[in-house]
Amino acid sequence: MAVTMKSRCVFLGAPGAGKGTQAKKLAAAGSVPHISTGDMLRAQVAAGTTLGRQAKGCMDAGQLVPDDVIVAMVVARIAEPDARAAWILDGFPRTLPQAEALDRNLSRASALSLVVSFAVPEPVLVGRLAGRRTCGKCGAIWHVQNHPTRRPGLCDACGGELVQRSDDRPEAVGKRLEVYRSQTAPLLAYYRDHRLLREIDADRSPDVVYQELLKLMQ
Ligand code: AP5
Repeated sequence: MAVTMKSRCVFLGAPGAGKGTQAKKLAAAGSVPHISTGDMLRAQVAAGTTLGRQAKGCMDAGQLVPDDVIVAMVVARIAEPDARAAWILDGFPRTLPQAEALDRNLSRASALSLVVSFAVPEPVLVGRLAGRRTCGKCGAIWHVQNHPTRRPGLCDACGGELVQRSDDRPEAVGKRLEVYRSQTAPLLAYYRDHRLLREIDADRSPDVVYQELLKLMQ
């Protein structure tokens, strides 16, 4: 079903909170670009670019890629013709300097409409990340228990092979959650102060979360 959505939205939440799952579906329904900094970085890694080689070390260790690199990448992306009117930003900003840089790069006419925070308890996040599998061909997101494919190891959408992200190994997951708590969670107060924040309980089924997001974003 085609939907009309608020124009410029940020999805904020810990690793595994379901940002990518929901952003893909909403972006398709609203015909707006889904801009995922994680997906953009993984594409650079896969292409073997200089940026990809620099980013891979940080990503595999569960650390953030430096702010200046990420900000330049996002600013260039939102200046592209398809992103002038609307987008969903997934995984950006995730530090205070990134949030401030985004504000500086948006004019009053193109300001943020909404920031959605996905709340999920940490033990649930760990289980989601451990079981996540991603299609190596089309990028669809699956889970071995919560959202399994009909044929194990193969994507239902395109038949591509499923892979486990290298940063979903337990060593990296612990670090990513720690980085979220120390560097990204402070953005909740920042966006609450800017009266843009809406928090949702994302520890419910993907369909229930989607319906709630639709209400917030339309
Ligand atoms: P990124 O790719 O952005 O990872 P993340 O933010 O850690 O988020 P995830 O992709 O892990 O989780 P998600 O919330 O999208 O959950 P998903 O929908 O997949 O970043 C990766 C790395 O890149 C970073 O660590 C960093 O190094 C670098 N990076 C990226 N952006 C950066 C930035 N701005 N600055 C600096 N560095 C940056 O769902 C997870 C699983 O749960 C799936 O299996 C799914 O099927 C399942 N699931 C989803 N929803 C539900 C539900 N409601 N119920 C049950 N299961 C569910």
